[in-house]
Amino acid sequence: MQNIIDQYTSEIKAFTAAKAEELESFRIKFLGTKGIIKDLFEQFKTVSSDEKRTFGKVLNQFKQLAEARYEEVKEGLGSATADTKSDIDLTLPGDGLEVGSRHPLSLVRNEIIDIFKRLGFVVAEGPEIEDDWHNFSALNFPEEHPARDMQDTFFIRKGDKEQGDIALRTHTSSVQVRMMENGKPPFRAIMPGRVYRNEAISARAHCFFHQVEGLYVDENVSFSDLKQTLYHFVQELYGEGTKVRFRPSYFPFTEPSAEMDISCTICKGSGCNMCKYSGWVEILGCGMVDPNVLENCGIDSKKYTGFAFGMGMERIANLKYVIRDLRLFSENDVRFLKQFQTEII
Ligand code: PHE
Repeated sequence: MQNIIDQYTSEIKAFTAAKAEELESFRIKFLGTKGIIKDLFEQFKTVSSDEKRTFGKVLNQFKQLAEARYEEVKEGLGSATADTKSDIDLTLPGDGLEVGSRHPLSLVRNEIIDIFKRLGFVVAEGPEIEDDWHNFSALNFPEEHPARDMQDTFFIRKGDKEQGDIALRTHTSSVQVRMMENGKPPFRAIMPGRVYRNEAISARAHCFFHQVEGLYVDENVSFSDLKQTLYHFVQELYGEGTKVRFRPSYFPFTEPSAEMDISCTICKGSGCNMCKYSGWVEILGCGMVDPNVLENCGIDSKKYTGFAFGMGMERIANLKYVIRDLRLFSENDVRFLKQFQTEII
């Protein structure tokens, strides 16, 4: 009997199971009602009474060993097969998919592009690092113009007589210059993009922001074309009935120049703190392209005329969504970003 026990002891110790069936065969073989242990206990009855003490102990240890091994292997098998059908509750809710949303500036930019595309404008882009010619000189900025001052412009390289300044563009008008230099009229394009100005960051000013400028050059383009185009744009963007007014202004690259106000989008003109109780808010600068600019870009200013306009996207978004702090646009706070239109995927 001792021999049999020794032989089975090593078998039990070495036992493993990859499948539940193997474990069950083990149970039947050793622990079943007709199993080996049951059999050994039967034989035990016939053992002489002076051997019973030692054998009884050995037999009980053997039984405990088989039971313990059975439980051990069962547990291992349970965790390894946790993804079997019976362990998955298909009725539980899923993990939830985080859906992204468009940045408010992207929403505004896309809307502006859509409106102008329907009027036949194409989208043009240019570099954010510009030379003096494209950002200033070609646009008729006099040498001593304050906008060239270190305070407004981030210079990357201060130039000398041979090599001009290199700077981060301060407006997307530079793209207009590039477009006119490289093509032939008519031009009808808008230029969305990021621009940089050397300003201290606060709720009302930032060292970078986004503009959309527009340019239309052809024969017989007049100021009334400019007014009609921008009037239509505003009706599309802020709704029918939005009023516009033009105030005379000055830009080196346009003559005459104007600033355009619209009736306040929040109070509709009755007065609120958005429009400082005036009923009007300024949204863009515009004017007829100065003949000097056309000539600088190699365009015959006797034959062609054009209009240009430029607006800040943050301003347009502010009037649409009432975002009072410019810093929110670039801080990437998810609580802010989540509030805008969700992408349908
Ligand atoms: N470039 C001007 C600015 O940055 C905006 C503008 C563009 C004004 C075109 C008139 C015509 O302020």
